Amino acid sequence: MQIISGAAVAEKVLEECRRDIAELAALGRKPGLAVVLVGDDPASRAYVRSKDKKCRDLGLHSVKLELPATTTQEELLAHVHALNNDPAIHGILVQSPPPKHIDEAAIVRAIDPAKDVDGFHPVNVAKLALEDPTGFVPCTPLGCQRLLIDAGIETSGAHAVVVGRSMIVGKPMALLLMAKGKGGDATVTVTHSRTKDLAAITRAADIIIAAIGRPHFIKAEHVKEGAVVIDVGINRVDDPTTEKGYKLVGDVAYDEVAPKCKAITPVPGGVGPMTIAMLMANTIKACKQAKS
Ligand code: GUN
Repeated sequence: MQIISGAAVAEKVLEECRRDIAELAALGRKPGLAVVLVGDDPASRAYVRSKDKKCRDLGLHSVKLELPATTTQEELLAHVHALNNDPAIHGILVQSPPPKHIDEAAIVRAIDPAKDVDGFHPVNVAKLALEDPTGFVPCTPLGCQRLLIDAGIETSGAHAVVVGRSMIVGKPMALLLMAKGKGGDATVTVTHSRTKDLAAITRAADIIIAAIGRPHFIKAEHVKEGAVVIDVGINRVDDPTTEKGYKLVGDVAYDEVAPKCKAITPVPGGVGPMTIAMLMANTIKACKQAKS
C-alpha cells in the first residue's frame, strides 16, 4: 500500500513555482494574489491566512482583505472591481462560502476571468470543458490530478468514480479525469447524495475521488481491493483530547479503507497542501498570461 504524500508533491510544485517566480523577477515582474474573506468563519479564516502566508513565503505580492460579515453585495463588488483594475494583482480569490446575504454567483461573474485563479467563472468552466489550456482549473481537483500523475497512477482507461458533484471539486474533477492526455482519459462516473446503491458503483472503481464533505463516509465496503483512493475531505470533528477541541478527518474511514488500497492519500497531509500549491501555480500562470 502506497501512502501518497501531498506534502511532498506540493513541495515539488512550489519548487517549480520558485523557479518561475525567479524567471519573472528577471523580467521585472512579480505575481500578485488577492484573497478576500467576508465574515468570520473560523475554517475559512484559517484557509485565507495560510494562502496569504504561502504567498509571502514564496515572495509573491499578496493582498489579504478580511471584510466584516455585514459587508454588502455592492461593497464586495466594489472591492472586486478595484482588484480587477489593479495591475499588481494577477489572481483574485473570494473565499467560499460567503455569508448568506451575498449572491456568490454574481461575485464570481464579476471577477475578471483572466484573474479568476479559482477557476469558478463561467468562462473558465467552459474552457475546462473545451480543454482550452489558457483557462484556470479549480485548485483542489487540479491538485488531485497532479497527485495521481506524480504517484504514477495510470488514469488512462481506468474507471474513476467521483463522489460529490460540487462546482469546487466534483464537477471539475470529472472534467479533468475525462479530458484527453496525461492524468485524463479515464472513464468517469459521478455520484452524489441521491445516487442509489453507491457502494455498488464505488466498488467498481479503480480510482475513487471522495469529495462529499462528510467525515469517514467512505468505508471498506465501498472500496475494491487494489483501488486508489483520493480523499478530498477536510472535516472538523469534536475531539476534547486535542488542544483545539477538534481534529480534521477526511471523507474516508482511513483505518479500514487503507489496507485494501493500492494507494491512498492521508488527511491531513494529502490533498490539502496540494490545493494551496496549485493556487500559487495558477497565480503564476495568470501573471505569465497577463500583459503586465
Ligand atoms: N472554499 C473551499 N475551497 C475553496 C477554494 O478552492 N476556493 C475558494 N475561493 N473558496 C473555497
